[in-house]
Amino acid sequence: MGIEARIPMIIGNWKMHKGTIPETSELLRGLIPLVRDVADREIVVCPPFTTLESATYLCKDANISIGAQNLHWEEKGAFTGEISAPMLLGLGVTHVIIGHSERRQLFGELYELVNRKIDSALQFNLAPIVCVGENLDEYRAEQTFRVVEKQIECGLKGLSDIQMREIVIAYEPIWAIGTGLAATSFRAEMVHSFIRARLAETFSPEVGNSIRILYGGSVKPDNISEFMLQPDIDGVLVGGASLEADVFAKIVMGKPFYR
Ligand code: PGA
Repeated sequence: MGIEARIPMIIGNWKMHKGTIPETSELLRGLIPLVRDVADREIVVCPPFTTLESATYLCKDANISIGAQNLHWEEKGAFTGEISAPMLLGLGVTHVIIGHSERRQLFGELYELVNRKIDSALQFNLAPIVCVGENLDEYRAEQTFRVVEKQIECGLKGLSDIQMREIVIAYEPIWAIGTGLAATSFRAEMVHSFIRARLAETFSPEVGNSIRILYGGSVKPDNISEFMLQPDIDGVLVGGASLEADVFAKIVMGKPFYR
């Protein structure tokens, strides 16, 4: 399978923003008409849990899928405050972000947990968007490849090639998240091609070729094109710049898209 089979994907991660119904509604009502004619890439928006239902309702006829930002790995049980995969599925959610660096750093989500969450998402037909990336110290110590390799190895452990077809990887260097300091497209491409090669080795060449690897970390309308030009960058995961409809729409429509 060639790279032309990888449909570009643009994801907005709202984090803990715009989570009241009027806020979600305003943002999505602004975004929907702006991206209505986009047919050559997938658009996913991930609001907080509180407005997932409103979001899936608002986007029911739009070309925007709705994702959650997290999930619990069990289907149900005594886990106060947690949300499970079947609950998300019941809201019309199709994607879920797993292992975002904020969850890893602030909520102690370690490798094993990420692996269990991926399993649960797959079991309930939610497409996992699995985040990996090194922190500033690791970056300075030139540990990026080692760190990312371990996150991938542990996170994706035990998955079959068929399950891997549902997975999207997001490479997000932590030092680039919310800092305005995006990685250079050259550096991001280097890490992406490393990840692709590792996945091809660990799973199969088909998995390596077909899996989508997104870049995340200070993506803006003025740098989207250089990322999308890279052969191993199949889209982006956007935080801050996904909170304004017109700004996010510019990223969604960022040129060039050759595939
Ligand atoms: P940012 O966040 O675009 O605000 O840097 C990216 C992310 O955390 O996914």
